[in-house]
Amino acid sequence: MEAAAVLKEAIGANRPILGVVLGSGLGFWADHSLQDVKKIPYAALPDFPQSTVPGHHGCFVLGRLHGHSILCMQGRVHYYEGYTLRQVTLPVRTMIEMGIEGLVLTNAAGGIGSSLHPGDAMILRDHINFLGSNPLIGPARKGETRFPDMSEVYCRRWRAAFHALLGRSGQAEVAEGVYLATTGPSFETPAEIEAFARLGADAVGMSTVPEAILARQMQIPVFAFSCITNYAAGRSPGPLSHEEVGVTAAAAEGRLSALLEAAVMSFERRG
Ligand code: HPA
Repeated sequence: MEAAAVLKEAIGANRPILGVVLGSGLGFWADHSLQDVKKIPYAALPDFPQSTVPGHHGCFVLGRLHGHSILCMQGRVHYYEGYTLRQVTLPVRTMIEMGIEGLVLTNAAGGIGSSLHPGDAMILRDHINFLGSNPLIGPARKGETRFPDMSEVYCRRWRAAFHALLGRSGQAEVAEGVYLATTGPSFETPAEIEAFARLGADAVGMSTVPEAILARQMQIPVFAFSCITNYAAGRSPGPLSHEEVGVTAAAAEGRLSALLEAAVMSFERRG
């Protein structure tokens, strides 16, 4: 049986409307914010890639938020763990097979732009795929577009609704920017960060782009934001560490929760 079939059996008639990928340090959200939670460990799903990174859990969490049925990924796998990009994107493919109509992606990222500080959030307006590969390489499945358009990966309408909701609820504005994905797992050198800045990147990280590309190929609207966990290399006084990433994300928990909730609430189902 395929992963989607096992998941469907586990969650019954509860078809999720939205998929949410919780990045480094954001896994707590599913436990803190959702009601009627049901967890399905990735280990229970056939051929499913398992996360090897500390701070990344490994399960789907189905729950409800303000009446929306949401399927969260508590933990994702990365290219640097040795998985292929097809494997990295399998969980999102599975969520799409489960019937999600929109996808929220979150990540931890290093801030390149001078106006981004640790603890800030950045909404992805666009991305630069610096992975040197693409999750769509390989045979296209029946009915799938071979050359999907990427001129609006991150849904403009969803972003506008999100900013409007923040305004209405008196929350501070969140900047938009360009996210650049590298393979990692080494952090960047200061010279690389300088080059990325010249390419137009505002933040740098090791995830999100493969999932966003797959979702666009499958014509699922995408909304994504980064938690800026550190100044990128050469823009910070000291060395970078994975621990710092976790500590900053944990300190920003309250604000990140509010933003995730706003992202869910501003999703408008299509016609
Ligand atoms: N670089 C790459 N990935 C990251 C960073 C960074 O500075 N911070 C969190 N994820």
